[in-house]
Amino acid sequence: MITLDNATKRYGPITVVDGVSATIPRGGVTSIIGPNGAGKSTLLSMMSRLLPLDAGTVHVDGLDVSTTSGQTLARTLSILRQENQLTVRLSVRDLVGFGRFPHNGGRPTVVDREHIERALEYLDMTELADRFVDELSGGQRQRAFIAMVLAQDTDFILLDEPLNNLDMKHSVDMMRLLRRLVDDLGKTVVLVIHDINFASCYSDTIIAMRDGALIHQGTAEEIMTPEVLRDVYDVDIQVELIRGNRIGVYFA
Ligand SMILES: Nc1ncnc2c1ncn2[C@@H]1O[C@H](COP(=O)(O)OP(=O)(O)OP(=O)(O)O)[C@@H](O)[C@H]1O
Ligand SMILES: [Mg+2]
Repeated sequence: MITLDNATKRYGPITVVDGVSATIPRGGVTSIIGPNGAGKSTLLSMMSRLLPLDAGTVHVDGLDVSTTSGQTLARTLSILRQENQLTVRLSVRDLVGFGRFPHNGGRPTVVDREHIERALEYLDMTELADRFVDELSGGQRQRAFIAMVLAQDTDFILLDEPLNNLDMKHSVDMMRLLRRLVDDLGKTVVLVIHDINFASCYSDTIIAMRDGALIHQGTAEEIMTPEVLRDVYDVDIQVELIRGNRIGVYFA
């Protein structure tokens, strides 16, 4: 379980995450949606201690992220950031290997290698494993970074816009993989996502943010309504039931 209590982030006089309190259940897919600038990435960064909180607390599996050691936290929680850049030239396999660092301190074992190969396979990156990361396409690079996060093999996986740059097939594969991690391996996945229909089809819980506040939390059935979506995005979105899923349809 992840517990947020009054989580707050300010930059100067501006409060960009404003007293967010929420409980994210263990063992599920939780999607965070909301317009650009709503505070989604800031909230995810605070959950993982990439950003310190200005007020409030975050607990992950009972650990206070502000006071838990980096190594303990890195064995509990992994995060994919929205922007990922490398300053050194690395092969894909070496990049993915960094995910094992919290477990082996830089001395890979047979078990680490198994995790690396499995993560490469999950992301359809085995054939590209010996390429340098700077020789990849945008979507391939995104998958390499996600493979690194999965190789970390933590109970809690936070992903900021994992579908960035992915084509339709790889987006569907990605969402199915996230479901498998939850359903088969008992992981807890929290992702930021702009595609409300992927959120609707693959999430157990959806959290909607706007202007730094958490304004709605519920199941897809509860969130995928024209009223809630208008509240979040200021757009009229028609919601259709297609094969049991609530799908938003919108036109310019
Ligand atoms: N380092 C910073 N200094 C000042 N303001 C910042 C900083 N980082 C983010 N912000 C502001 O905080 C607000 C929330 O940003 P955040 O990146 O969390 O939004 P987001 O919901 O992830 O948006 P997007 O969908 O565009 O990724 C924005 O208004 C942004 O301009
Ligand atoms: Mg963001």
